[in-house]
Amino acid sequence: MKHSIPVLICASLGLALSARAAAPTPIPVTDKSFACISKLTAVRGFFVGSLTGNLAGTLKVARSPNGGVYPPGSVVQLVPTEVMVKQPAGFNAVTHDWEFFELDVSAQGTKIGKRGFAEVVNRFGGNCFGCHIKAEPKWDLICETGHGCDPIALTQPMLKALQHTDPRCEGAANVSAADAAALKQLEELMHPKPAAGDKHG
Ligand code: HEC
Repeated sequence: MKHSIPVLICASLGLALSARAAAPTPIPVTDKSFACISKLTAVRGFFVGSLTGNLAGTLKVARSPNGGVYPPGSVVQLVPTEVMVKQPAGFNAVTHDWEFFELDVSAQGTKIGKRGFAEVVNRFGGNCFGCHIKAEPKWDLICETGHGCDPIALTQPMLKALQHTDPRCEGAANVSAADAAALKQLEELMHPKPAAGDKHG
């Protein structure tokens, strides 16, 4: 069968128009979308949830030994103050539709400090996307360990201590000795004391 050129042009124009018309609606994310990290579902060392009621879909990818693309609405957290939320397919081609958040958390709840895509920088000056894009493609920007991202300086005990002391969680003030020690090490890592004999300042 032969198509005339005008038919082909019309067909491709039609496709372009329908692709535009189908621009995805963002999943709304507000301060209320987030709460105590440990109320999410633990997967290995991190936590997942769903803003669209599709926790099963999110867990399927999170638990898959072969990775996969997280469904829209997926929430992923490692520490209380940093979150990734998956927006619908086609929302942001650069970040593979992940939206990055930095949160301010307190006993009163959550305030979104920063949100966005490739431009979001955490409180230590690190660009979320810049690190997470180094994960091998099959992991959909999830770093964990061994996925190809550069490792972070936080140890497992530090990460656990941050999770256990999320101020939004009940009982967060009861800090175990192990968590207190890990938090002290973290503090020293973030604000190194000047070496003895250091004349600065
Ligand atoms: C310096 C690089 C770096 C920066 C900057 C960074 N991350 Fe990560 N992130 C990592 C690594 C590496 C892990 C895995 C750590 C582990 O499991 O030990 C991780 C873990 C996570 C996880 C758990 C899922 C996963 O990928 O393992 C989330 C969610 C996350 N980061 C969100 C963010 C957000 C949001 C920002 C910015 C506000 C951010 N990260 C900034 C490197 C980074």
